[in-house]
Amino acid sequence: MKELKDKIALSHLGGGQKRIDKQHAKGKLTARERVQLLLDDDSFEEIGGLVTHRTKDFGMEDQKFYGDGVVTGYGTIAQRLVYIFAQDFTVFGGSLSETHAEKICKVMDLAIKAGAPIIGLNDSGGARIQEGVRSLGGYADIFYRNVQASGVVPQISAIMGPCAGGAVYSPAMTDYTIMVEGSSYMFVTGPNVVKTVTNEEVTAEDLGGASAHSTKSGVTHLTAQNDLDCILKIKRLLSYLPQNCEEKTIDLPFEFGNEIREELETILPDTSNKPYDMKDVIAGIVDLDSFFEIHENYADNIIVGYARLGGKSIGIIANQPFSLAGVLDVESSKKAARFVRTCDCFNVPMLVLVDVPGFLPGTDQEWQGIILNGAKLLYAFSEATVPRISVITRKAYGGAYDVMNSKHIGADFNFAWPQAEIAVMGAKGASEIIFKKEISEAKDKTAKLKEKEDEYAALFANPYSAADRGFIDEIIEPKATRRKLIKAFSAIQNKVVIRPARKHGNIPL
Ligand code: HXC
Repeated sequence: MKELKDKIALSHLGGGQKRIDKQHAKGKLTARERVQLLLDDDSFEEIGGLVTHRTKDFGMEDQKFYGDGVVTGYGTIAQRLVYIFAQDFTVFGGSLSETHAEKICKVMDLAIKAGAPIIGLNDSGGARIQEGVRSLGGYADIFYRNVQASGVVPQISAIMGPCAGGAVYSPAMTDYTIMVEGSSYMFVTGPNVVKTVTNEEVTAEDLGGASAHSTKSGVTHLTAQNDLDCILKIKRLLSYLPQNCEEKTIDLPFEFGNEIREELETILPDTSNKPYDMKDVIAGIVDLDSFFEIHENYADNIIVGYARLGGKSIGIIANQPFSLAGVLDVESSKKAARFVRTCDCFNVPMLVLVDVPGFLPGTDQEWQGIILNGAKLLYAFSEATVPRISVITRKAYGGAYDVMNSKHIGADFNFAWPQAEIAVMGAKGASEIIFKKEISEAKDKTAKLKEKEDEYAALFANPYSAADRGFIDEIIEPKATRRKLIKAFSAIQNKVVIRPARKHGNIPL
């Protein structure tokens, strides 16, 4: 017993007290502290705590640490089973050896078999340099499992230190990445290689810090101020997701009241070209303080995130008139498409709030492939089988009307506010095209254009044409939106969709 206890005590020390102090001095927690904070009290059960590496080169035989740089096991978060690995920077900088990778693969395999989420806390100097290709093989073993687990169990990656080289591809293939500000970075090649190859001078933080990846690249979905904040965000994120693709999300207690929200009546400005904050609409619909935004500072002309509606978890996709008038462009289409697919694979019903003037025109967008990227969103909605409801708050123009979860691509309920404008394009642009001859022949061209614009607007800048065809199920008073949605989601919660057999679809990438 003494021998066992001594070994366990040693394993808990990782790379030793000196290195633990160094980790703390950087404002970082150790792997074990992170695990303890993330999991329910006394719920952690370790697997492979006494594993050591097998390398003999470079004097490594004399440098062995129990656990080999990664703490692995299972436990619970809010009483729900999760599998976890946390890289221990105090042991060879958390670098990935063959045995380190085997430990991660073991918990991933168990999580897939048991149908439980996998949470990875990454803090690593990358491939264990002393092990060469054995380390690279270990990475590939993990990547392979990331893909096998994709869409089966939720996978969440926290980046709580370095994550460089090919190592970045494991987080990139998981459902969510969250980076700690100031102490984490992700890049395929670091500043030195960048300088050698492109002659660019850039710091690690500017190249691949939390700020760069949450605003410029969209690589990270969330950022956290520090380790503790990161752990709290992982817990919150998980609360909106089910254990696996076969299960539904967990409902919170809710009692239906009158659910009328008067504040929604006055959100829209008096003219349709003035912006407003779609987040006010979201707040007016969902349960109090339940909105959890994803990708907050990236492509902010579209909003995505989770919330609770009548106690149930939902995913929200909403155009944001405050940014670029809520237009769909390359980045916002990609961002929304990814979120739609994540909701769909984990049975999270979707609410889509539409106020979209169309796709962003221009060479920049066309050459970046707005066609393919817009198609991603169209494809993602069209293939989704979860309950899907849309509310058009104001504009739904052109192809963007079709793309934003229209009835035609499988939405279950489509509502519109009375101010909605549903048309091929704005009244001015439309009139200039279809009444071109009449306007050019008129004595007062401006007056003629205005007359035709009014004519077109009267016919189409409203929701009634679409309601007449049944493309809109009901035109609702804004204040009744929450009430309608709670009832409609409840009416469609047991939706079943059978698709034709196929290997897998071919989403435009
Ligand atoms: C073995 C490593 C290591 C590594 C760090 N250490 N990285 N040991 N393999 N990759 C060890 C150090 O020797 C040191 O040991 C301890 O970890 C802490 O490292 P420090 O350098 O003292 O820490 P710090 O100053 O904080 O710098 C951290 C660092 C730096 C920026 C991560 O260590 C570094 O640049 N490491 C190398 C990164 C790298 O090039 N990795 C390979 C990338 S290629 P002691 O005993 O002193 O505590 C790759 C390919 C993956 O990963 C491909 C997948 C397909």
